[in-house]
Amino acid sequence: MDYKNILKLISENISSGLFIVNKEGIVVFYNQSANDLAGLNVENAIGKHMLEIFPKLTEETSTIMRALTTGEVIKNYVQNYYNYQMKLVTILSNTVPFYENGEIAGAIEIFSDVDQYKNQNKYNKKQECNIIDRAYYTIDDIVGVSQFVNDIKLKIKKIADSKSPVLVYGETGTGKELIVQSIHNLSKRRDNPFIAQNCAAIPATLLESMLFGTALGSFTGAKDSKGLIEAADGGTLFLDEINSMDIMLQAKLLRVLQEGHVRRIGENKTRFVDVRIITALNQNPYKAIEEGRLRNDLYYRLNVINFSILPLRERSEDLEVLSYYFLNEFNRVLNKNIKGFTDDVIEFFRSYSWPGNIRELRHSIEHAVNMTEKGVIAIEDLPKYIDINHKDADEIRENSGGEKNAIIINAPLNEMMNEYERKIISESLKKNDYNVLKTSKGLDIPRQTLYYKMEKLGIRVDKRVEQA
Ligand SMILES: Nc1ncnc2c1ncn2[C@@H]1O[C@H](COP(=O)(O)OP(=O)(O)OP(=O)(O)O)[C@@H](O)[C@H]1O
Ligand SMILES: [Mg+2]
Repeated sequence: MDYKNILKLISENISSGLFIVNKEGIVVFYNQSANDLAGLNVENAIGKHMLEIFPKLTEETSTIMRALTTGEVIKNYVQNYYNYQMKLVTILSNTVPFYENGEIAGAIEIFSDVDQYKNQNKYNKKQECNIIDRAYYTIDDIVGVSQFVNDIKLKIKKIADSKSPVLVYGETGTGKELIVQSIHNLSKRRDNPFIAQNCAAIPATLLESMLFGTALGSFTGAKDSKGLIEAADGGTLFLDEINSMDIMLQAKLLRVLQEGHVRRIGENKTRFVDVRIITALNQNPYKAIEEGRLRNDLYYRLNVINFSILPLRERSEDLEVLSYYFLNEFNRVLNKNIKGFTDDVIEFFRSYSWPGNIRELRHSIEHAVNMTEKGVIAIEDLPKYIDINHKDADEIRENSGGEKNAIIINAPLNEMMNEYERKIISESLKKNDYNVLKTSKGLDIPRQTLYYKMEKLGIRVDKRVEQA
């Protein structure tokens, strides 16, 4: 088989750029995409040295030269440079040396345009991945009448102006984003940037360069570019789904938090930044640590101020007011005049577990406002999957003799056990007037264990306890 021809055929039909150099760094092969992406400043690069083609590069800054001299495999390396049209391009490259008779004989670099992926939504699968630089929500957007919501609002007011890091933990749809934006908008930082970045679904190296910025790129006419940490100077940087951030990158973030300055990738200089870091996760932090998804040391540094958001099913006092709030919203948006909900609906809302929390409630009401043909929302107007759950729960109750507290098996065992444990601890705390010491004695467990369990199960420490 003629591998040379096959290589040519492949290289002509891929959008990635490809360079092959020999052990001296002389280009022996490159494709049209490499030419287009790198904006070569020579007519024919074959036979020329890498550093001649890219005069701004040095032995150290060129990934190819590095691979040749050190034998290093440089994976997912992100670099910024200006191409021949003076357009800023961000590329992701992989550089691999190859060997003959045990010695480095050359190197291959394959690279692609990151922006192109972004446009294809490859890295931006979730809408939340988009960088936003303004906070829209304020504390007045937080609706609710429960003690829990009142406490949250008080706490936001108390801590808004502090520079200490904040960690927000809550199930999906519980309003973490709302709380984080409200903190920013209530702080003195409100006129400065609010930058939000979702840490999931972005390759670690790309996220690293997005956060820290890059200095000299490896291609022609490289220009410095600042990262999100610097871009948020004077304001707030919100890192969502921190438990999805690469563990090595978490260590680098910890360093920024400890030292208060950043160093762009490829730069020796450090720059001081005044950024308040807020992080969120939708998994219990202890579980995230246990699973190795969150560094212990970073957690303690981030957890200076902590918001643990109760799921909707545990604050049913908020259900009605939230339901009417969303009803009004969709009446307005959809130009309708629905007056309210049947008693059945309200009763069902109280019994439903709301796995998607407030977001799910909002969507259900939007659905119902669209569907209803009457003046009030009835059970049949709710989305079908919710209705089915409703019936299931009823059937289980009926089959088990209609007893009110019959066991409903609707989740994995450990989740149901957690739920049971949560109920026991919540009830005991209530019984003991939220005195942790008394409660721990009553349950015959050490106080530290009780604290641990409360945190793990997301049982909020009541204000009275905090003061005790
Ligand atoms: N207390 C509240 N009052 C009014 N609306 C709320 C409240 N909490 C949440 N919402 C609404 O619910 C939706 C989900 O909220 P948000 O995006 O803040 O949740 P989240 O916890 O960040 O979710 P995820 O973990 O999925 O990112 C939004 O439309 C938000 O406006
Ligand atoms: Mg969110």
